[in-house]
Amino acid sequence: MKLEKLFRRAVEIGMKADVREKAYFDKYFKKQKEKKKKLDGWHKDIFDDERTWNPFPDCRIINGSGNEDIKTLMVGIDIETPEVLLADRLREKGQKIDALFIHHPEGRALADLEKVMPLQIDILALHGIPVNHSEADLKPRMDRIWRSIHADNLFRTERAAELLGIPAFCCHTITDNLVWEFIEKTICKKEHDDLSSIIDALMKIPEYAYYAKKGNPPIIVNGSGGNRPGKIVATEFTGGTNGPEEQLEAQSRAGVGTILSMHVTEKTLDAAKQHHVNMIQCSHMASDAIGINLLLDKLEKEEKKLKTIDVSGFVRIKRS
Ligand SMILES: [Fe+2]
Ligand SMILES: [Fe+2]
Repeated sequence: MKLEKLFRRAVEIGMKADVREKAYFDKYFKKQKEKKKKLDGWHKDIFDDERTWNPFPDCRIINGSGNEDIKTLMVGIDIETPEVLLADRLREKGQKIDALFIHHPEGRALADLEKVMPLQIDILALHGIPVNHSEADLKPRMDRIWRSIHADNLFRTERAAELLGIPAFCCHTITDNLVWEFIEKTICKKEHDDLSSIIDALMKIPEYAYYAKKGNPPIIVNGSGGNRPGKIVATEFTGGTNGPEEQLEAQSRAGVGTILSMHVTEKTLDAAKQHHVNMIQCSHMASDAIGINLLLDKLEKEEKKLKTIDVSGFVRIKRS
């Protein structure tokens, strides 16, 4: 499959797993196209055409024309210059690598990370938190993320890939949507007597079992094993990065009992303690690996010969 086709397919899969409906995306693309028409001068020059068909600003091809044939992907959760060099070294030794599949965004996908965060508002709305509250809580956090990333050296990885002639693309919220949907369905919607039984259920998922054996199991970070879970949600699996700690109080008021998370900030943990919300920190890398595996399973249906070289925290586990 050509890189462009593979990436466009990934975007479609990400939209299908998204909490927002097709009508939302149609409206989003229409608004972007109308916005483009009205721009002039430098505003027009820097308009991102990608936004007229790809609603995930943290997902894009960061190196390559899109016309490259893809059969073998080097897949990593974090791929930076060291992994690009590793790819080049492996290619030198005869290993075929057609492109780099990067989870945590790099290049422009990283520059635009905060733009995916409003998705958190829709995830929270699903559990009864008013959109106006979430929006007001989220805005200052989005501004902080924007300013902090703005100062980063954003284009090192893409330049390394460019110099070494290795196509590369980022899929972040696309695969986080897939793992969010999967955890909602396989864990949150099921009955659990206590937090320990949630951990037991997580441990039946092969990526968590794999990471647990290596010393990185899912852990209860607030509450204890015997605690009743109440309403279980996976509100910290997708939406760019951690939300503000104010979201914790809002969820508690809306009746959330237990939050499953990939990673918990200290401020959020303090808020969880204050508002009596149980929190389970599922392994970050294992959780990201689940999302990537779910996407690869779908892509493999169309590109039967798709192979992966697993690096940087990723482990390929196929589901039939
Ligand atoms: Fe992720
Ligand atoms: Fe992650």
